[in-house]
Amino acid sequence: MCGIIGIASNRNICKDLLDTLNRLSYRGYDSAGISIVNDKKILERKIKGKISNLENLLELSPIDGALGIGHTRWATHGKPTTLNAHPHTVNNVSLVHNGIIENFQELKNSLLNDNTFYSSDTDTEIISHLIDNELKLGKTPIDSFLNTVKKLSGAFAIVAIFKDFNNLIIAGKRGSPLVIGYNKDEKYICSDVNSLTNLTKKISYLEDGDTVILNSNRVKILDENLKKSKRSIITVSSDRVVSSLSGYDHFMQKEIFEQPDVLSQSLAYYMDFSDFKMNEDKFNIDFSKYEKIVITGCGTAYYAGMVAKYWFENIAKINIEIDYASELRYRNVLLNDKSFSLFISQSGETADTLAALKFCKDNGQTIVSIVNEVESSIAKESDLVLPIFAGPEIGVASTKAFTCQLVALASLALHIAKVKNIISIDEEKNFINELLHVPKLILDVFEKENEIKKLAKIISKSKSAIFIGRGTSYPIALEGALKLKEISYIHAEGIAAGELKHGAIALVDKNMPVIVLAPEDLFYVKTLSNMHEVISRGGNIIFIGSCLDDILENTKLQGINVETSGKLSSPIIMAVPLQLLAYHVAKLLGKDIDQPRNLAKSVTVE
Ligand code: M6R
Repeated sequence: MCGIIGIASNRNICKDLLDTLNRLSYRGYDSAGISIVNDKKILERKIKGKISNLENLLELSPIDGALGIGHTRWATHGKPTTLNAHPHTVNNVSLVHNGIIENFQELKNSLLNDNTFYSSDTDTEIISHLIDNELKLGKTPIDSFLNTVKKLSGAFAIVAIFKDFNNLIIAGKRGSPLVIGYNKDEKYICSDVNSLTNLTKKISYLEDGDTVILNSNRVKILDENLKKSKRSIITVSSDRVVSSLSGYDHFMQKEIFEQPDVLSQSLAYYMDFSDFKMNEDKFNIDFSKYEKIVITGCGTAYYAGMVAKYWFENIAKINIEIDYASELRYRNVLLNDKSFSLFISQSGETADTLAALKFCKDNGQTIVSIVNEVESSIAKESDLVLPIFAGPEIGVASTKAFTCQLVALASLALHIAKVKNIISIDEEKNFINELLHVPKLILDVFEKENEIKKLAKIISKSKSAIFIGRGTSYPIALEGALKLKEISYIHAEGIAAGELKHGAIALVDKNMPVIVLAPEDLFYVKTLSNMHEVISRGGNIIFIGSCLDDILENTKLQGINVETSGKLSSPIIMAVPLQLLAYHVAKLLGKDIDQPRNLAKSVTVE
């Protein structure tokens, strides 16, 4: 994974490298570094940890110059140490890399035979050695770069600078994203557009196989056949709003509380509340001919797809095939012209999801995507993009993107149900009316934050927790467990409530919090029965749901009453107390809530 930036200019660029690395840090924050060519020397600074560590290092030991590269890392090969941080400089070349070199061991072995000395455990350093060896043989930088890249397999992007060339950057894209930015007398190469918009709005997307030779005045692109090529320059209209905490302690907290607003925007895009109809123009594909949807995504996005499975099957009466993106593409799932493929991704850059998309596209599928970043790779590969309007999500734990994904999915389910003549106009109205109440019902959940904090205290003292639910509350249980794991590092499992008795109930004792998700739905009574099975075995129940029977009073249970308004709104609303619960547990434990260990916001390696 990782974020990379290169700048060719005729002014000092160290500060711009650092600013861009900060914008790229959603791609990883295990270590960071920069290299600058100045007066035929490569100056390098790199350090373990977040970009603030690099900023401190540069204050103590400054470097500057007009041409340089920067990197923020999510470790794949080699621990997140300073030695493994990028750039990797070997004599005459310094480079940064995003992706994985799959044949690195084989290449390393062949170099070891030549007594090459390695200072890191990374796959990246091999590339620097290979290029440097070519340079030593008297090859030009571009020939050295191309000869080396030919030997590499995997998906990657590489950006290199050279000691004796104070105005030359060479970059290659083979599977990982790279864009070029243009300004008069200044050119850029970067992992994504949004991280560049503080420097320029004029950009080109590179294509796979492209090699770029750039200096402050010129950009030359060679395609995969080494033919000189042009990539259109577009002007990106909006700058990414650089998010600030606006008085909140953490981005995750801010993003949880933004949900009533962003959900309203998302709902208003897909539905017309003046006459309670779907905005049909947002779905410019004829969905009436499809009998099956193949849904995929990763992590939270995958759980959004799992919730939607129930909606598509129940409301739109369409078959669903759903799997993790990392599994789907290797399963040889049966695809035909009666199915279309649906991809869910906040970032639109997740490598597993993108690879699954390419697999489905190569098999002739129509591609529909639900994304937050509408300029992303997944969006660009899609026949129809359904945006979610969550706005920038900075916290690594996905919150508002999840609930906004659910709105887009609910809208698609209603649209398909409508074009297939499965729901009547009145049913459409009722569903829309139900969704209209979601923002207000989430505000009601916020009123219960103090009660949620008390529940968080119980969980913060536990080593493990179980979340149970039925129907759409089952994927919400999985999502609640994921939120808790990723930011508090407490082990948690989401289990279908009816499945608990088939094994996992053996884990239950007085020390095991069992978070029971029981909104007022078809499964309510059955979920309560499952809860009683846990109570009988001494489990420590935390109830989150509808208190139809004054359940908290009668059974002296701890928990909160959550009001929902129907089958579409219920999972959207139920997700919110679980986000707050995880947030407060992590806060009580003093964890790094917005940038939890070992994670990154966008996972761009398979
Ligand atoms: O950007 P994406 O939606 O494709 O990301 C997918 C997952 O990596 C992401 O949802 C991850 O699971 C989150 N950290 C969960 O909070």
